[in-house]
Amino acid sequence: MSSLDATAADAQLADFRFRCIHCGNLIDTAGQDFRCPSCGDLLEITYPRWKHFHFTPESLKNTWRGRRTSNAAVDVSGVWRFRELLPELAHNEQPVTLREGNTPVYELPRCARVTGVARLFAKHQGMNPTGSFKDTGMTVAATFARRAGFRWVACASTGNTSASMAAYAARGGVRSLVLVPEGKISWSKLSQALDYGAVTCQLRTDFDGCLGLLQQLVRSAPVYQLNSINPFRLEGQKTLAIELLEQFDWQVPDHIIVPGGNLGNSSAIGKALLELRELGMISRMPKLSVIQAEGANALVRTLREAHGKELITVQAETRATAIRIGNPASWKKAVHVVQATGGACEQVSEVEIAQAKAEIGAEGIGCEPASAVTLAGLKKLIQCGFVKPDESVVLVLTGNLLKDPDFTIEFHRGELFKEIERGAGASLKAVRRPPIVLDATLDAVMKTLEQAEKS
Ligand code: F0G
Repeated sequence: MSSLDATAADAQLADFRFRCIHCGNLIDTAGQDFRCPSCGDLLEITYPRWKHFHFTPESLKNTWRGRRTSNAAVDVSGVWRFRELLPELAHNEQPVTLREGNTPVYELPRCARVTGVARLFAKHQGMNPTGSFKDTGMTVAATFARRAGFRWVACASTGNTSASMAAYAARGGVRSLVLVPEGKISWSKLSQALDYGAVTCQLRTDFDGCLGLLQQLVRSAPVYQLNSINPFRLEGQKTLAIELLEQFDWQVPDHIIVPGGNLGNSSAIGKALLELRELGMISRMPKLSVIQAEGANALVRTLREAHGKELITVQAETRATAIRIGNPASWKKAVHVVQATGGACEQVSEVEIAQAKAEIGAEGIGCEPASAVTLAGLKKLIQCGFVKPDESVVLVLTGNLLKDPDFTIEFHRGELFKEIERGAGASLKAVRRPPIVLDATLDAVMKTLEQAEKS
């Protein structure tokens, strides 16, 4: 079946509206700020026609599985393969796609031993085309940006959104504008945005300042915003959960653990789980837990000190720069899904993040620092009894190891936050593998090998 035929044949189910998460207002078109025209809160996408779906959960699961043998672009994409649960493509419309999704689930036997849970897995979103989970949302949002006829798209970013947006904008033939905090994002991510052709502005502020400015910009210029305030992004990011469950043959894990920054991803995963239950595709819910860095712990404080009723913002500081965010836009959505799934919210220290990152690296997998909060958080959730040793746990690794090489190299050389490391002692040293400079002799290499054998 050609890709055009596939689109036409399947474009029968999803048909969406925007719903305000606060007042429930339903609208057909959203303004450039993606906020409710009545109360100003965020919008989400809802599918009124789902009530009239004529499929059984089994037939839908079979359709999705069957598409794996197709070579049509919409089927090869690990996002559009699940298009019945996404905003509908127009007749003959081809999505802007880089064959995103289709990311692996890995077992983590060593980390399982360290933490004491028997069944521990990683869903590695860092294996997406630009190296982070952002691609799964960007394919949907870029497709709708192009359909809306915008010449420019823009985002504020801690790095990964900008890399992803720049790539998808280039593929979709629109221009892109990136606003990043100067000096506070990894050069690897910045280099991606440059190479993909974005106009890249390093602003003398933090991420929250960049996002505030973007909100002003989209109200004053015909620029389409591709931050996760844009609900099309979250629809694409939902497919992480759908694909994960398919990879588990629809056996529901007990826990899914995800890093929290601007809180779009946790909201998207939670929305997917709630929708899958509503559609009868799963019979029980995994608990969805969000982990933040201690220095960027707005959701932790919001839940602990304000019981999720109002946002407590913080001045964010962490070396896990992807989640260096103090005023998360999607906090209300995240509170809702954490509470609705019975999940938890935890914070972890800089040393705990670095240690966990090296442990995930030692599995032959690796991830960027923000992703490692999941393993560090799991250790705490086990300690407090929230996660039981016989339960199954999936860590969502959001970014690739190569996204932040400076962090990795500084860590292994013992140059990352030196003062803290001195106090941290043996557990850090056990996972550190500094490079060794030697004379180019067999003797020197043999001695090194012998020493390593003993350690
Ligand atoms: N992990 C990584 C690697 C990220 O890049 C981000 C966010 C998160 C976790 C947190 O996800 O914001 O949905 O809660 N990065 C954004 C960016 C903010 O601009 O790249 P979230």
